[in-house]
Amino acid sequence: MINKYFSICSWSFLFLFLSCNSQNIETAILSVIDMKVVSFFSLMTLQEKIGQLNQYSVGEEMTGPNQDNEDSKKRYQQLINGDVGSVLNLLGAENTRLLQEQVINNTRLKIPLIFAYDVIHGYKTIFPIPLGESCSWDLDIIEKTAKIAAKEAAASGVQWTFAPMVDISRDARWGRVMEGAGEDPFLGSKIADARIKGFQGNSLDEPFTIAACAKHFAGYGFVESGKDYNIVNVGKNTLMNVILPPFKQAANSNVATFMNAFNDIDGTPASANNFILRDLLKRDWNFDGVVVSDWNSIGEMVNHRTAKNLRSAAEQALIAGCDIDMEATAYVDHLDSLVKDNPDLLIHVDEAVKRVLKLKFELGLFEDPFRYCNIELEKETVGAKEHFELAEKAALNSIVLLKNSKNVLPLIEKKKIAVIGPLANDGDTPLGNWRGKGEQNSATSLVEGMKMVLKNNSINYTKGCELSIGNNNFFQELKINKTDRNGFKEAIELAKSSDVVVMALGEPAYMSGEGRSRADIGLPGLQLELLKEVYAVNKNIVLVLMNGRPMTLTWENEHIPAIIETWHLGSRAGIAIAKVLAGVHNPSGKLTMSFPKHVGQLPIYYNHKNTGRPTSGPNQVFYSHHTDIDNNPLYPFGYGLSYTSFDYSDITLSNDSLDFNSSIEASVDVTNTGGVDGAEIVQMYITDHFASVTLPNIELKGFKKIYLRKGETQTVSFVVDSDLLRFYNDSNNFISEAGSFSLKISTSSSTGDMKSFELYQ
Ligand code: NOJ
Repeated sequence: MINKYFSICSWSFLFLFLSCNSQNIETAILSVIDMKVVSFFSLMTLQEKIGQLNQYSVGEEMTGPNQDNEDSKKRYQQLINGDVGSVLNLLGAENTRLLQEQVINNTRLKIPLIFAYDVIHGYKTIFPIPLGESCSWDLDIIEKTAKIAAKEAAASGVQWTFAPMVDISRDARWGRVMEGAGEDPFLGSKIADARIKGFQGNSLDEPFTIAACAKHFAGYGFVESGKDYNIVNVGKNTLMNVILPPFKQAANSNVATFMNAFNDIDGTPASANNFILRDLLKRDWNFDGVVVSDWNSIGEMVNHRTAKNLRSAAEQALIAGCDIDMEATAYVDHLDSLVKDNPDLLIHVDEAVKRVLKLKFELGLFEDPFRYCNIELEKETVGAKEHFELAEKAALNSIVLLKNSKNVLPLIEKKKIAVIGPLANDGDTPLGNWRGKGEQNSATSLVEGMKMVLKNNSINYTKGCELSIGNNNFFQELKINKTDRNGFKEAIELAKSSDVVVMALGEPAYMSGEGRSRADIGLPGLQLELLKEVYAVNKNIVLVLMNGRPMTLTWENEHIPAIIETWHLGSRAGIAIAKVLAGVHNPSGKLTMSFPKHVGQLPIYYNHKNTGRPTSGPNQVFYSHHTDIDNNPLYPFGYGLSYTSFDYSDITLSNDSLDFNSSIEASVDVTNTGGVDGAEIVQMYITDHFASVTLPNIELKGFKKIYLRKGETQTVSFVVDSDLLRFYNDSNNFISEAGSFSLKISTSSSTGDMKSFELYQ
């Protein structure tokens, strides 16, 4: 049969070759795949087609049936019957080869499986959590870490990652903010593009590339009150202008797949949402890849109560354009009878199957189903030394210096340093949630890093308190220690006898991520109390934060002289942090999510709208505010300090007007006016003063990361044209409107003077 199939393909290719000329060779190559798909597809029965739309999670045992488990036996049988098209969570060159062999050897058409896995911030070598890494604003590093993650995953038999998560998130209570790139659609789109390029390379043909997946389509970052899996109510203006841009970018960047989401959007579950899946994604954006459901999200439509039963959920999701059913068994159990009852549905099945086949051809699986199954290669590749070097570089660039009064930092050598805190000697927390095959406790802890980097100091460590009780893992609810203060005394004594105290506090790895929403986003457990008691005896404190989300740090900011945000920095966390503490590396990260002063301010984000009541007269209450706190965040988007200082001068516009066919250049001189070399992230924000719909007060529209030696000046320029000023209007048209604008180029979203310009018709 395979031979017959290949001969059909050869004819198709010959036909195509003869009918194409050299200019459209690229189109011709794509068409070859399309022709192969059509040829192959014509051989398939309905049951074989449905199998391709069914995806299961299988564990290590799934290379054979587990004798004691009925479900496992059933799944194994389905796998070797061809009733499964792709699997997730089976890893390793050997395991994937074994299962692939069984599928190839037992099924009529020998269609290879795709092996998928959540490779979120590294496979074995763990890079900073995506939110942390986004604070580098360094697209080159971001692309490289995704590339290495893909390389390691591919060498372990994986061909598809469920990343990047491109959900815009404005509410730090939501646990999954750690997986994204923060609150801004412009930056989020650039980062989405970099991650996709990193995973997929220029083409899935290239060695060690894997298919990426833009998720969660759409609106998942806007779950009400930041509570995971909650409902989503957004209007079309926010949907089109804030939530969707990174997804649209992903489609433009040729991401191979999209994943839909658990939530509903304004009354319609994302998994069966005709508007976003069919009208936008597949029609308007011309996306010709695969849409996979989220885990059982088709099944969950029964809980949303928009589907009476799984059969109806399957029908709705299929019609809406969801190609693969992950884990709900809705398609494998019901599509056959649905199509028999209503043959019109076959057209949707066929479309979905062709998309899946196309992906398999693009991945080269038909040519070599064992493409990535090589044990020797796996050993050489996974966890290679140079990957860890990149992990350190990414970590260094992700650190954000939040406060440094009295120049406490960097720490000058030959000091007596106390290192205190439940996360200080913890080699697990820096790996964060969703750490792939990153081994438990395998990160360099802060204490280890400090002992390596700050060798000439005396470094003494005590824990101070436990943060959590019992086991921490992906599946269990975390229990936080709220009562055991046994370590306090020793910590206080140590602090008393030290020159400086480095306190490592924050959230353990499994306090953020899926299912880890929090109502209180302050330091959990007894940590703030410990910090206050240490502060009472030694005010010379450097607070090193390790956490997966923005936190409320009002007391900390008021009292602690130096604060650095290190997120969950990955395999080389401790060394990177120690290099920043020691001044070996000058921090340059800038926040990509605002930090609130109080949880009641959430959602908080820099690109908010003016409202009809932005301010009021003195002593009046009738304007948009909370009566007990101002409207500003504690640390805004784009904020982050350095050990040096940067001066912005001579902000100029090449012209004070442009039209729809011209552009202007905005430039600024940035000078390193401090005592050390350093990198600066130069940001351009634009305000559209009047528009037909309400728009944010300012929006990021450009950024550049530059490196300046002390005393050096560089001119940084941005091109502004009418395309950059576009937004979705009330009719969902992506337009720019003539009128008044202003822009600023500055070091953060909250500083800088505006310059005006006009866009003429
Ligand atoms: C559920 C998560 O929402 C999704 O992001 C992930 O890719 C799937 N589980 C598969 O693990």
